[in-house]
Amino acid sequence: MTTTAGKRLLLGLTGGVAAYKSAELLRSLTKAGYDVRVVMTQAAMQFIGTATMQALSGQPVWTDLWDPRVANGMAHIDLSRDRDLIVVAPATADFMAKLVHGRADDLLSTLLLARECPAMLAPAMNRQMWEHPATQRNVQTLLSDGVLLAGPGAGEQACGEIGLGRMLEPEILLEEIDAFFQPKILQGRHVVMTAGPTVEPIDPVRAITNASSGKMGYALARAAREAGAQVLLISGPTALPTPSGVQRIDVRTAQDMFDAVKRVVNTADIFIGVAAVADYRAQTIAQQKIKKTTASERTLLLEENPDILAYVAGLPQAPFCVGFAAESEQLSQHASEKRRRKNIPLLIGNLAEQALGADDNAVTLFDEAGEHPLPRASKLPLARTLIAQIAARLPRGSQGKK
Ligand code: C5P
Repeated sequence: MTTTAGKRLLLGLTGGVAAYKSAELLRSLTKAGYDVRVVMTQAAMQFIGTATMQALSGQPVWTDLWDPRVANGMAHIDLSRDRDLIVVAPATADFMAKLVHGRADDLLSTLLLARECPAMLAPAMNRQMWEHPATQRNVQTLLSDGVLLAGPGAGEQACGEIGLGRMLEPEILLEEIDAFFQPKILQGRHVVMTAGPTVEPIDPVRAITNASSGKMGYALARAAREAGAQVLLISGPTALPTPSGVQRIDVRTAQDMFDAVKRVVNTADIFIGVAAVADYRAQTIAQQKIKKTTASERTLLLEENPDILAYVAGLPQAPFCVGFAAESEQLSQHASEKRRRKNIPLLIGNLAEQALGADDNAVTLFDEAGEHPLPRASKLPLARTLIAQIAARLPRGSQGKK
């Protein structure tokens, strides 16, 4: 896992209305510990003031190729030399066209031409401008030049039209920038995961479920994708946004989850079962709401749900399987026993009260060699550590199943 705190960014703004979102992006970046130097074009300054960006970055904002503050007059070179990444957000159609031709007629375009570090663009433009063959040609050229693209997203645009071309939201861009700095230890791998609870209906308004926020599973999905994997997340109902770059299939019951897993698992190199799957479901689902009676007791007949993880682990060409176990007591005993019973190489266990709904977690790894407790950490850094642990255990030569 690589920490992003202290990484040095150059944030470039060009002249698009999405520039107002870059203030929020800058705020999130500095809050996350990035050191951010801001460069704005003349057109960007029509949309947002330098004072805002200066206050949020805590550094002077640079706008002029001839800025006298750079002693040797080499602002176009000096301002990017100590940077780890240049992010241009928003990147207009015009700015992208300029980059394609290697033009350098202002500070930001000159910095990009003279740079030694990678560059990431967050395009922002009207959908017609994005779809125009000229822009699409430029996108291809920029990609083949090694420039990274984050977005654009789809949705309603400032001009009132709907389509592709919106700048990604600041929180998604932050995810993309964080992802850039993570080691690509799962490059080329396909990961299928389950997360969240399952909900087993009893009647149209009642259900059996497990307490699960989905936070750990979603953090793992994000960390796996950051590590370069293609991630398919099969999720029970949660209130969480889908991590950037992750493909998500929504399900409700354990049976739905099982069916979805069966459909896709043959593509997986790694299967991670984080879902809190209900072990039992109602034997019959009442068509109408069950009415209260005078009886003081009532019996609900349950039948067993399929064990998804055990099924996947038992496949002839099983992917590398990882399970989770939230226990209320005797973690070591229950978790080791569960790992053996499900026949999986790695099980990640924790005591339920330490994790449920929380933003941090303390887990122990259980594998063939024994148990290995990890220090308590917030769920995203922990997820990155877990992905590193999984990557280190993958059988050699199993790269890229499909
Ligand atoms: O519920 P249990 O503690 O047995 O869960 C352990 C692991 O098995 C978890 O990874 C969970 O996602 C998985 N599981 C499953 N299908 C079930 C029950 C659990 O995949 N029916």
